[in-house]
Amino acid sequence: MPSNAPSPSAPAAVLCGLAGWVPSRVVTNDELAERLDTDDTWIRTRTGIRRRHLADPGQATSDLAVEAGRLALRSAEGGSGDGSADTVIVATTTPDRPCPATAPLVAARLGLDGAAAFDVGAVCTGFVYGLATAAGLIASRVAARVLLIGADTYSTIVDPLDRANAIIFGDGAGAVVLRAGHPDEPGAVGHVDLGSDGAHEDLIMVAAGGSRRPYAHGGEPTPAQRHFAMRGREVYRHAVTRMAASARTALDRAGRKTDDVDHLVPHQANLRILHSVADDLGLPRERCVANVDSVGNTGAASIPLALADAAARGRIRPGDRLLLTAFGGGLTWGSCLLTWPSLPTHPQSERTTP
Ligand code: COA
Repeated sequence: MPSNAPSPSAPAAVLCGLAGWVPSRVVTNDELAERLDTDDTWIRTRTGIRRRHLADPGQATSDLAVEAGRLALRSAEGGSGDGSADTVIVATTTPDRPCPATAPLVAARLGLDGAAAFDVGAVCTGFVYGLATAAGLIASRVAARVLLIGADTYSTIVDPLDRANAIIFGDGAGAVVLRAGHPDEPGAVGHVDLGSDGAHEDLIMVAAGGSRRPYAHGGEPTPAQRHFAMRGREVYRHAVTRMAASARTALDRAGRKTDDVDHLVPHQANLRILHSVADDLGLPRERCVANVDSVGNTGAASIPLALADAAARGRIRPGDRLLLTAFGGGLTWGSCLLTWPSLPTHPQSERTTP
């Protein structure tokens, strides 16, 4: 297996800014139970989720991304005196529109005129794919400073009357700034594993609105085809096996063992999935970073939101060794190693803590 170690002569992507942002509207399990045939106990025991934040009508993914992006740039400014970025990547499944991408608008609203800007579509794995993309752009010297934002408004694609999915997803955005640095310094994006299996595209899907079943040309979709659909049980099984296998691959490539990991930071799909991944890896569950209870599954935003929340609480500290792992529709998966750097501020904490 190739080691995919960053070349010692190439610059590494080093984390220097971090922030999370969630909309102010909190929706509890009890509130959902008022309109759905469900209850707080069922939701908590099956998913570990107690509440989630949902966007207001008219609030789009770019609105959330801009808030998180602005805070992350401010955080990076405190660290290295430069609040700019030459590249903006938005990982999302819920772009403002099918065309154009959301990232150029976000860049413009942040005053990053002329920055390269594009979206990454890897569903809930989007943030890890984005990290790998940013690392590649920095290593090849195409970019020197990347603002990577994971942002999703699943409330815009989930049927609010679909009790299986409406209980799981929340809206939010998380962002990091990556600068060119040295592979050995804390914050350097380390060994990465990425993968996919499109044969299972039907497990997580919005069927209509793309070129396969376009809204244009009179092809009126059914309500079910317009909405997000997921085969929950099968997804659960794949999520555990794929995240655990990918995490192992990243560790193998780095010549590390699970004992070397201080914190596992998985995509916040569902608390049972997170614990099963930790169990599979032989890691104590206490080493698993989780904030799914208070934000739900926020798609591409979930890992940076979990990082921002854990850093703000002092749960992860400079020098700690982190293993990030994600899984999402596609199917896609990915993992990455990272030693936590010293970051100046975590201004997102008021919005993500209970
Ligand atoms: N409240 C009450 N009952 C519900 C419910 C809800 N919100 N949603 C589903 N049910 C019912 C089902 O209708 C089913 O009833 P039946 O046995 O009478 O047919 C029963 O609960 C079991 O449904 P099932 O889907 O098999 O439950 P589950 O234990 O697999 O839990 C999920 C459902 C969605 C919580 C679970 O499959 C899951 O977490 N999957 C992964 C989802 C995820 O994290 N996706 C993101 C990956 S990126």
